[in-house]
Amino acid sequence: MSLADVREWVRGATSIAVLTGAGVSQESGVPTFRDAQTGLWARFRPEDLATEQAFRADPGMVWDWYVMRRAMVARVEPNAGHRALARFQQARPGRLALITQNVDGLHQRAGSTGVLALHGTLQDDRWLDRPRPCCTALPPQEGRPPRCGRCGNLRRPAVVWFGELLPAEVLAAAEQAARSCDLMLVAGTSGVVYPAAGLARTAAERARMVVVNPGPSDLDDAAHAVLRGTSATLLPQLLEDGA
Ligand code: OAD
Repeated sequence: MSLADVREWVRGATSIAVLTGAGVSQESGVPTFRDAQTGLWARFRPEDLATEQAFRADPGMVWDWYVMRRAMVARVEPNAGHRALARFQQARPGRLALITQNVDGLHQRAGSTGVLALHGTLQDDRWLDRPRPCCTALPPQEGRPPRCGRCGNLRRPAVVWFGELLPAEVLAAAEQAARSCDLMLVAGTSGVVYPAAGLARTAAERARMVVVNPGPSDLDDAAHAVLRGTSATLLPQLLEDGA
């Protein structure tokens, strides 16, 4: 299937679901998960830092890693792929549901609405343990991480860590979008992490499913078309100019 064929599918689709992963932010300068990390943190693997166990063992270190990631994401800008998705949604309200595994907030900053952020949002935080009345009575005490001044409960990044469940309402909405779409575009994901990758497989049972990725992904076998290229190049070509 060619790019022109998939453009036709986009034009003809009444309900499009898009699943994105780290690759859609690569051209904004955010390293993907399976790329080597650079600098001070290169010797740590995200899998070793992004767990509740790691946070409880060394909250200061894990908090600092997230402070670094927040700062990095704040310095970068959405790219042409993010913008093409947002413009499509704005021009055709209700026709495109956007599901992302990314926590970087770039889809939202590009202007997308109703983003189903399966793995949470990097810029937000929440209580580590169930908040007690004292936790919410006063603003958290500054620190690395901030904490409840009375009971010591810690603030933690509002992202999904390894071994944690996805936010149930977000996942349910994403499953609904995957089940009811007639076209699913899957961009910038290796397709190895579930349940996110399962959404593409669910969609492919009833709808057309298209993978956009410069390299191979684990979802290629289930796709009706695989477009080899980057999301900042291909998403505008698929979604713009009268699509
Ligand atoms: P990965 O790092 O696993 O995969 C990134 C994918 O993007 C790869 O398939 C690349 O080929 C592709 N890619 C690279 N540059 C691209 C570009 N410019 N345009 C399009 N694609 C490009 O990232 P994810 O699949 O998002 O989970 O990883 C899924 C989850 O694994 C993450 O959300 C995270 C991690 O464990 C949690 O944190 C819970």
